Amino acid sequence: LSISLIGVPMDLGQNRRGVDMGPSAIRYAGVVERIEALGHSVKDEGDIAISHTRKEQSPNTHLRNLEDVIDGNTKLGNKVNEVLEAGQFPLVLGGDHSIAIGTLAGLADKYENLGVIWYDAHADLNTAETSPSGNIHGMPLAVSLGLGHADLVNIRSYAPKVKPENVIIIGARSVDPGERELIKEKGIKVFSMHEIDKLGMTEVMNQTIEYFRERSVDGVHLSLDLDGIDPLYTPGVGTPVPGGISYRESHLAMEMLYASNLITSAEFVEVNPILDEKNKTADVAVALMGSLFGESLV
Ligand code: ARG
Ligand code: MN
Ligand code: MN
Ligand code: MN
Repeated sequence: LSISLIGVPMDLGQNRRGVDMGPSAIRYAGVVERIEALGHSVKDEGDIAISHTRKEQSPNTHLRNLEDVIDGNTKLGNKVNEVLEAGQFPLVLGGDHSIAIGTLAGLADKYENLGVIWYDAHADLNTAETSPSGNIHGMPLAVSLGLGHADLVNIRSYAPKVKPENVIIIGARSVDPGERELIKEKGIKVFSMHEIDKLGMTEVMNQTIEYFRERSVDGVHLSLDLDGIDPLYTPGVGTPVPGGISYRESHLAMEMLYASNLITSAEFVEVNPILDEKNKTADVAVALMGSLFGESLV
C-alpha cells in the first residue's frame, strides 16, 4: 500500500487537555518505521492546523468549541479527499474522536456505499439534544449519519456520509439512553462486550466481514478509539471504561481485517499522553496498526 499519514492534534471535542499530543506520541512510538517494515510506503503529511484558543463560542448551543471543531474537520475532510485523489490510503492519527466527522466527510466523496467499523467503548451517537456532556467527541457517528447540529452534518456540504445499515460498532459498553434509542430506530449493528464475550472475537470478525460483503460496500473505514480496548492496556484515554476488548483480541481483529482485504482507510483516536503510562497507549496503537497492515507472528 501507499499510505498517507495525517495527524490531527484536535482536543476541542472534549474537556481534557493532552489528546492534541496524540499524533506526536504515535509518531514517537514508531508508526512510520513499523509500517514501512511491512513493505508499504508511508508519506507523513504532517498535522492539520487546529485552533487551540478554547474561547467561548456559539452561545446559542451547548456544543463545546463548535466553531473550531467545524473548522478543523473541514480542513481534515479536504485533506483526506486530496489524499484519496492521489491514490493514497488515508491513515488518520488523533486527536479526539470528533475528527471522525472530517475523515468521513472526506471519504464520502469517493465511497458511495462505505462500510464503517466503529471500534469503541462508546457509540458516539449523541446529538445536541441527547448529549449528557456537550462534548462533540460523543457525537461523530450520529453526525456522519446525518443527525445532529446542521453545521456539523453539512461539513463538505452534503449529508449523510454513511448509511446506518453499513455501520458496525464493536466493543460498546457505555451507551447513553438517547444512543440506545438511535441504535434501535436505525437498526445499527452492534457487537457489544456481551457479544464479544459470548461469541468470541473470531466469530465477531467473521460476521463483520460477511456483513460488509453481503452489502457490497465499496470501501470500509476503521475508526478505532483506543478506549475500545481495556484500560489495562490503553490507560492513556480521556474516557476509560473497564471491561474492554483485550490486547490479543484486538490484534486478532486487526489480523482478520488485514486478511479480509476490505479496509480502505483507518483512524486511531483518543491517545492522550498526559493520561498515559510511558506512552503505552500509543505503543498499542502502533502495534495494532502493525497487525492491520500485515504483520504476522511467524
Ligand atoms: N457518551 C459520552 C458523551 O457523549 C462519552 C463519549 C466518549 N466518546 C469518545 N470518543 N471517547 O459524552
Ligand atoms: Mn490544544
Ligand atoms: Mn470511546
Ligand atoms: Mn469514540
